[in-house]
Amino acid sequence: MADTIFPEGFLWGAATSAFQVEGHPLADGAGPSNWYRFTHTPDRIRNGDTADIACDHYHRYPEDIGHMRALGLNSYRFSISWSRVMPEGRGAVNPAGIDHYSRVVDALLAAGIQPNVTLFHWDLPAALEDDGGWLNPELPKYFADYARTVFDALDDRVPMWATLNEPWVVMDGGYMHGVHAPGRTNPREAALAAHHLMLGHGAAVQTYRAHGRHKIGLVVNLEPKDPASPTIEDAQAAQRSDAYMNRYFLDLALRGRYPEALPRLYGEAWPFEASEDMSRANQPLDFLGVNYYKRGVMMRDDSRPVERASSVDPPGREKTSLNWEVFPEQLTRTLLWVRDTYGDLPLYVTENGAAYEEGPHANADILEDPARVNYLRGHLLAVREAIAQGVDVRGYYAWSLLDNFEWAAGFAPHFGLIHVDGVDQRRTLKRSALV
Ligand code: IFM
Repeated sequence: MADTIFPEGFLWGAATSAFQVEGHPLADGAGPSNWYRFTHTPDRIRNGDTADIACDHYHRYPEDIGHMRALGLNSYRFSISWSRVMPEGRGAVNPAGIDHYSRVVDALLAAGIQPNVTLFHWDLPAALEDDGGWLNPELPKYFADYARTVFDALDDRVPMWATLNEPWVVMDGGYMHGVHAPGRTNPREAALAAHHLMLGHGAAVQTYRAHGRHKIGLVVNLEPKDPASPTIEDAQAAQRSDAYMNRYFLDLALRGRYPEALPRLYGEAWPFEASEDMSRANQPLDFLGVNYYKRGVMMRDDSRPVERASSVDPPGREKTSLNWEVFPEQLTRTLLWVRDTYGDLPLYVTENGAAYEEGPHANADILEDPARVNYLRGHLLAVREAIAQGVDVRGYYAWSLLDNFEWAAGFAPHFGLIHVDGVDQRRTLKRSALV
């Protein structure tokens, strides 16, 4: 599929994040992260799983890069662990942390694979969490200082950077509903965390403009929102959800303001003046990364703060093992919506994939995963359709290269193109890796 129908120079990649795959989070002078702590807190993660070993990518990256090369990937999207680079989150730099990522970048380039690096994919140094985490107004500055350290070390070889991965999930999972680190459940804090995340994004982009030579963008997760029924209540629920999830971070990054509806949705929990100036979050971007998995089918639910909506399980279509609806055409819709709403920015699908349970594969060379093959084919056709309709999509990254640590769900969901044996770390290609 790759060679015949996508534009020349299209990036074909797979994505991972540091905490989900590396393992050995305290190795070589790294400091603990808030996620390290969260995974070591009872009852936070399914089956009590931790990411202490994960996929051992920290040591096995040469083997994994070998797989990427054999699969013909020309880009790898991964993230940097802030607490490996700066164990306390600010101040002293840990040279072993920087050296590790420098070796990863060199190994990728030697294999003809372009690095695409995300600075923050959710794991925050625990020392900064102790100072208030993203509630601390100093965080944007600390983030920009960390970004500067990483740019100085790697920008000579890294052509593509993203500041944050999915700030909505950090805000919603970490501060609104408490299912992610730091496990808080407070709408006012959620608004503050989102605010500082996006000021951090803006500050890191400004730092890059002063020192960097290549491209920098932001990665957001988007879900088109449909009402669960034809009632006005559900139509309004879908609109609220759209403002809360999709427009929140794109309006900040690309327009420098909050969606008009947002202060009203937060009500008394909204911590800002109506005229809050967010223009510092609005820095020119070289690209936008879109993570797409599913649409949201929403019904009114007054028990949920701010959004006052929850998603239902729509009947009729196939579901993944996480019960996520498989609906590739919604990816085309998402890409068109971004272009039509925010203008013609280069887009990359920075994550797309599905969790499925594969059958037994002892001693097999290839693990058959027909459902994931269909999922990927359908979504690649959806990307092609968006391109045919004039959207400037320049790359596609499957989530994920490896079966890995799926946050609060532990290792149970399998998103990988490559199966990882939890006991001996043996890698087995799945058929979907060859799509
Ligand atoms: O595993 C996550 C990833 O860290 C961020 N985007 C969604 C993936 C699947 O849930």
